Amino acid sequence: MNDPSRPAASCAGFPGATVWLTGLPSAGKSTIAQALAARLRAEARRTEVLDGDDMRGLLSADLGFSRADRDANVRRVGLVAELLARNGVLALVPVIAPYAQARDAVRERHERSGTAYLEVHVAAPVEVCARRDVKGLYARQREGLLTGLTGVDAPYEEPSRPDLRLDTDRQSAAESVVALRALLIDRGLCTP
Ligand SMILES: Nc1ncnc2c1ncn2[C@@H]1O[C@H](COP(=O)(O)OP(=O)(O)OP(=O)(O)O)[C@@H](O)[C@H]1O
Ligand SMILES: [Mg+2]
Repeated sequence: MNDPSRPAASCAGFPGATVWLTGLPSAGKSTIAQALAARLRAEARRTEVLDGDDMRGLLSADLGFSRADRDANVRRVGLVAELLARNGVLALVPVIAPYAQARDAVRERHERSGTAYLEVHVAAPVEVCARRDVKGLYARQREGLLTGLTGVDAPYEEPSRPDLRLDTDRQSAAESVVALRALLIDRGLCTP
């Protein structure tokens, strides 16, 4: 008999995974991760969002924005994500992670434990991101109040072979969520 308290399509029981959403500031990483998380939780999927801003405050408050510090931040967040994912949680990680080498190290950490890892490039032209400017970073950089802004006066190394690219200047956040969920289904990480 159907249990009305359970969702019809349940993602419970699927293996954990890390989904890293990399991209420029204001590209849409957090927006898409939060919307996907809400959808997956409604489907009984154990989901955590490790958001860049939260992680900076909670895990990496001692770190700045040098390359070494950015890499250390990515390494720490990657470690937490892998622990969660290895234990059945879907870890969504909207964190800029500008350097390919650091992202690859996180992927390799997952591979060593046989844990699924997906890299998603949340892509939008820097001009679009600068117009959105959710946190006012682009404006502050223009005014000379901030230096080292990723994609403007600090490097952003685009993923060369992401598992998925979401062009957020051409598709809505809702469309991106559908595409990302389709990838999870395709990889056996979520029920259709
Ligand atoms: N197609 C889209 N997908 C996602 N966000 C979009 C889209 N179109 C417009 N937006 C808007 O762009 C902004 C993206 O902000 P968001 O905080 O998600 O960026 P972010 O990539 O997490 O940036 P940061 O690295 O600074 O945390 C939001 O205000 C969102 O509503
Ligand atoms: Mg964000």
